[in-house]
Amino acid sequence: MASSTTKPARCAASVCLFVVSVGAACVGASFRERTAEAQAGPASAQSDTHGALAMERQLARVIELGIGKDPVVVPKGVSPSAYAALVPKDNPGTAAQVALGKKLYFDTRLSFDGTVACATCHDVSRGFTDRRPLSEGIDGKVGRRNAPTTLNAVFFHRQFWDGRAATLEEQALLPITNPVEMGQPSDVAALAKIKDEAEYKAMFQAAYKRAPNFQDVGRALAAFERTFVFLDAPFDKFALGDADAIDRDARAGWALFNGKARCTACHQLSSSSPIGTDNRFHNIGVSARHRDFEGLAKKALSMLSKDASKEKQDKLALETDLSELGRFVVTRNRSDIGSFKTEQLRNVGITAPYMHDGSLTTLWDVIDHYNKGGETNAYLDGGIEPLALSEREIDQLVAFLFSLTDERFKDQNASEYERQKTVASSKRPFRDNDRANRKVLTFEKRLHGGK
Ligand code: HEC
Ligand code: HEC
Repeated sequence: MASSTTKPARCAASVCLFVVSVGAACVGASFRERTAEAQAGPASAQSDTHGALAMERQLARVIELGIGKDPVVVPKGVSPSAYAALVPKDNPGTAAQVALGKKLYFDTRLSFDGTVACATCHDVSRGFTDRRPLSEGIDGKVGRRNAPTTLNAVFFHRQFWDGRAATLEEQALLPITNPVEMGQPSDVAALAKIKDEAEYKAMFQAAYKRAPNFQDVGRALAAFERTFVFLDAPFDKFALGDADAIDRDARAGWALFNGKARCTACHQLSSSSPIGTDNRFHNIGVSARHRDFEGLAKKALSMLSKDASKEKQDKLALETDLSELGRFVVTRNRSDIGSFKTEQLRNVGITAPYMHDGSLTTLWDVIDHYNKGGETNAYLDGGIEPLALSEREIDQLVAFLFSLTDERFKDQNASEYERQKTVASSKRPFRDNDRANRKVLTFEKRLHGGK
């Protein structure tokens, strides 16, 4: 099962996904978040272990959101042939497969100590993430990476921040046996927890016409995740011609996004690129903050020369300092040092904190990071330079980013905007106007003892 990746697995150039336009309407758009619950923290009576909303309440949300109840279908406006490339032939996502995946996604028994499910870290009430900088698995073990949302993950050409999994099927099995996530000693041990339950037996039979087995666990989870299509945001109405669907600031932000701020160089957001990613890997100077890349790369090469399996890569990414090497651990190409996958921008209003290490708390921090040209390092992407954005322009870009959240999370998005605004009004740790405006160059600052 473990296959080693020794050659760079570059993604295919982006295919035309959307035939009609970026405005893909979604099912169940009448759903409104109940904001108080959405903010439910560890102390909430409604919370499950590790601060997630209780599983049965999450399941109720799934129904309200209108997902996970049907077979996998081509999302509205998406080109059927391009979408077919994202769905493996042996896992079309029948209603029975989706139903099995839904049961598994919320089942904490899949973890070693019975406290962690996929939905613990990809919580329906928290933007399908855990709202922590770094994820917490069994026994309160904390990994090295931020949990990305599972919303729209189907549209990525590769999974994980470093793309080490090619498909959702392959991705879904790794957390189950990862020691700091669900912690099962083996796939046999994981399967043993569920395989004798009558309901599961019947559901595996209905879905895949065979007895419960580990590969089908991954397939069913992937089938369920393919129903998480959330592309119905105010921005989409704007893109379809309703100029007032987003406010003046957001419109100005969209112009900056495509112009002065150069975001579109990596986050193309268009009918053929619906989630705003180029599906490539870039060093944008996030990890450079705390790491000695050369030393780490040497260490990684020696460790991977003995074992470069997917499981090994997964451990290095989630449990060691080598995590900060990003894509390099998968390809061992020098140019990939410190590179991570261009994250999607959909629903970004409700998935803070940001970046692979969760180091940026608000979208103001994100723009401050780009505005000063990231953290300088030898592998920094050429597309990252000081942007000289004014405070007003920063606010406009943030307003635009908040217009990308699906209507079903409208209330949660609005309250998150207010929360981040309050945080940013007193804390902007990444703001550096001198660097943004090239009044000081990074090397000068270093010479004088700055960071
Ligand atoms: C302990 C928390 C935790 C648990 C449990 C967990 N995940 Fe994740 N998930 C993460 C983190 C952290 C990452 C990013 C890791 C990386 O990129 O190196 C991730 C990444 C992903 C991605 C990739 C998304 C992208 O944009 O690349 C998918 C899909 C996903 N998880 C689905 C699942 C499924 C399905 C399960 C259950 C079998 C699961 N996760 C269990 C924390 C968790
Ligand atoms: C050179 C390519 C590149 C450019 C230009 C770029 N980004 Fe990114 N963006 C990335 C990559 C790569 C990541 C993930 C980096 C990481 O985690 O280390 C990312 C992450 C993000 C995230 C975090 C999303 C999340 O959920 O964690 C946001 C928001 C974002 N970018 C917005 C922008 C905006 C706004 C601009 C323009 C000011 C911009 N980006 C310019 C490549 C780029």
